[in-house]
Amino acid sequence: MRKISAAITAVGAYVPEYVLTNQILETMVDTNDEWITSRTGIKERRILKEEGKGTSFLAIKAAQNLISKKGINPKDIEVVIVATATPDMKAASTAAFTASEIGATNAFSFDMDAACSSFLYGMSVAAAYIESKKYKNVLLIGADKMSSLINYKDRATCIIFGDGAGAVLFEANENGLGIQDEYLRSDGTGRAFLQATYGGSSHPLTHETLDQGGQYAFQEGKTVFKNAVFNMADATVKILERNNLTKANIDWLAAHQANKRIIDATAQRIELEEEKVMMNIHKYGNTTSATLPLLLNDYESQIKKGDNILFAAFGGGFNWGAIYLKWAYNSKN
Ligand code: UT7
Repeated sequence: MRKISAAITAVGAYVPEYVLTNQILETMVDTNDEWITSRTGIKERRILKEEGKGTSFLAIKAAQNLISKKGINPKDIEVVIVATATPDMKAASTAAFTASEIGATNAFSFDMDAACSSFLYGMSVAAAYIESKKYKNVLLIGADKMSSLINYKDRATCIIFGDGAGAVLFEANENGLGIQDEYLRSDGTGRAFLQATYGGSSHPLTHETLDQGGQYAFQEGKTVFKNAVFNMADATVKILERNNLTKANIDWLAAHQANKRIIDATAQRIELEEEKVMMNIHKYGNTTSATLPLLLNDYESQIKKGDNILFAAFGGGFNWGAIYLKWAYNSKN
């Protein structure tokens, strides 16, 4: 019997309409376009402004975009995973609501959170379901409303993050296409350097912590930066070595869009040419769980069937890793 692998067979995406440019940020905090562009590569990000709309709004839109592009019946979807660090609510799954709203009424669904590596880890989970032959397809959505965690008076974080969502459909493949290998790691000592401290079970929100802005994300950028550069590059090298690949075998690097300098460092470590490095951080900033599927959506028309894509991510926790995937289709767009 032929081996079953998990292939991506469709992509969809959604970003909110409101564009928060570096120029607008200059009027909000002590920063400037030159600093943000040279330190991060970001020019603008999208923000979901409408009250009462959370991450599920973004996830539903991205999933609906995929469903209409692919022309599938949502009732045929077996599993819906929403990778997110900003679920709609503390209790009640964002994925369950998303699945119902898109009409995936025969699916089971759940959220998963590994901070900025949520989507990468989600790819691993989706692949395991399919390779086990328990399920034929998995809809994996990466969605985050990062603006809900950001203090727009804190220049260390507000210039980086944006809101958005991307979705991919994984299906069983018998021709060797899809996920080939993965290297995933985590290190909990890293949580001191990137966290939203209050509002969880260890430090519930109180009037006092709210008054201190305790609900917002805090980041010690330099430490996170150093760990991201080292570990993302290390994970990609490990994947190359154990699959006997050289840079000539890699068609694309799809790396988490946290900082252009981190992405460039990862590409340089494997000496990958610039034109093979997917990049859209200038348009969206760091959308946490949505960065990888937003890249696939933006580059979909350029990726060819059989192309080798190296995915890499690093995030709070710390969580990081790399995945090697063979692309399974030529886009009709
Ligand atoms: O996706 C999850 C993982 N997250 C990441 O991977 C993010 C990793 N970290 C980073 O991307 C970078 O550390 C940042 C973009 C957050 C910061 O860049 P940096 O080059 O590490 O800057 P820094 O924090 O060391 O600050 C350098 C200087 C400081 O001034 P002094 O002390 O040298 O006078 C800061 O006060 O830049 C100043 N600064 C700013 N200036 C203008 C910090 N933030 C800003 C700002 N605008 N927004």
